[in-house]
Amino acid sequence: EKGGYEHFMLKEIHEQPNAILDTYRGRLLAKDGIIRMAGIDDNIEKFLNANRIIVVACGTSWHAGLVSEYIFEDLARIPVEVEYASEFRYRNPVITEKDVVIAISQSGETADTLAAIKLAKSKGAFVFGVCNVVGSSIARETNAGAYTHAGPEIGVASTKAFTTQITVLTLIALKLAKANGSMSNTEFHHHLQELELIPEKVKEALKADDHIKLVAQKYKDAKNCLYLGRGYNFPVALEGALKLKEISYIHAEGYPAAEMKHGPIALIDEQMPVFVIATKKGHYEKVVSNIQEIKSRSGKIIGIVTEGDEDVKNLADHVIEVPETIESLTPLLTTIPLQLLSYHIAVMLDKNVDQPRNLAKSVTVE
Ligand code: M6R
Repeated sequence: EKGGYEHFMLKEIHEQPNAILDTYRGRLLAKDGIIRMAGIDDNIEKFLNANRIIVVACGTSWHAGLVSEYIFEDLARIPVEVEYASEFRYRNPVITEKDVVIAISQSGETADTLAAIKLAKSKGAFVFGVCNVVGSSIARETNAGAYTHAGPEIGVASTKAFTTQITVLTLIALKLAKANGSMSNTEFHHHLQELELIPEKVKEALKADDHIKLVAQKYKDAKNCLYLGRGYNFPVALEGALKLKEISYIHAEGYPAAEMKHGPIALIDEQMPVFVIATKKGHYEKVVSNIQEIKSRSGKIIGIVTEGDEDVKNLADHVIEVPETIESLTPLLTTIPLQLLSYHIAVMLDKNVDQPRNLAKSVTVE
């Protein structure tokens, strides 16, 4: 059942090229320049007339929501708020009929997300679900939706659900960007072609596994770790830190790289591994200068970089390469090494990777 892998998590990490393919199969018609998604097509006016999109989710799904904020705003010029479902539901939030709420959930059973949906519906908002489990409570409770088609995710640490959620949200954003005119035909086609290349590039990224194992060996005894990224890759930093925390029980924090100087930089010394996402696309020079700041305080730097990178390589203690892609798709690649790294550290520390202590696969209580 684990398909020859030692753990479900590792199997699911390696399933990502196919899972992403399954997610856009039949939807992304790159040659024809079409994205077909019934849930969006049937409700396109709701999306085009919306004042804003409010994303509600928890945990890793919330991180996918944060990535989608960059995608929707950058590509489709639609304002987005991303909310922890648990905070949103109890805040007496301002919701109107002009809001579109997107609820993201792998299991489709998360209690807080379900309650946030019910609240939004009661205020007249249109609620769209992005779920993995077919026929789940959230899939049934939403007005419309799009499944991720990632296949069953058994490992408590979410992996392929995250990348397929980002894939679905990218498809939606591209569709809306085309429909509302914020993206030219040429750009639209370019994005579709780049998205089609992602499964192969994820495969490439997975090939760094042996090297990642060596990096894991070096840092497995750390007591604390920092994860930094900017722009599209800031949420990936949060997700990288969450993966490490939940399965290896090492304290880790994700931060926007530029926030470091507002506090966390005080933590940096020679004991502190800092994982920095520094791909060529997306504030590269700024991230490089953040890396210099860490280096001058003797922090250990592990860079997640674009293939062939030289600048970060010269500064960092280790680099892990991912293939090049357009900026909006980088999260689908930069996430991969961080998943593998957490996995290997947890295995080396002899932790229960698939069923970490205190955690459940679906959190059906608030
Ligand atoms: O099923 P959901 O996507 O609604 O679950 C949300 C979170 O409970 C979930 O992502 C959790 O954070 C994972 N354990 C993260 O790996």
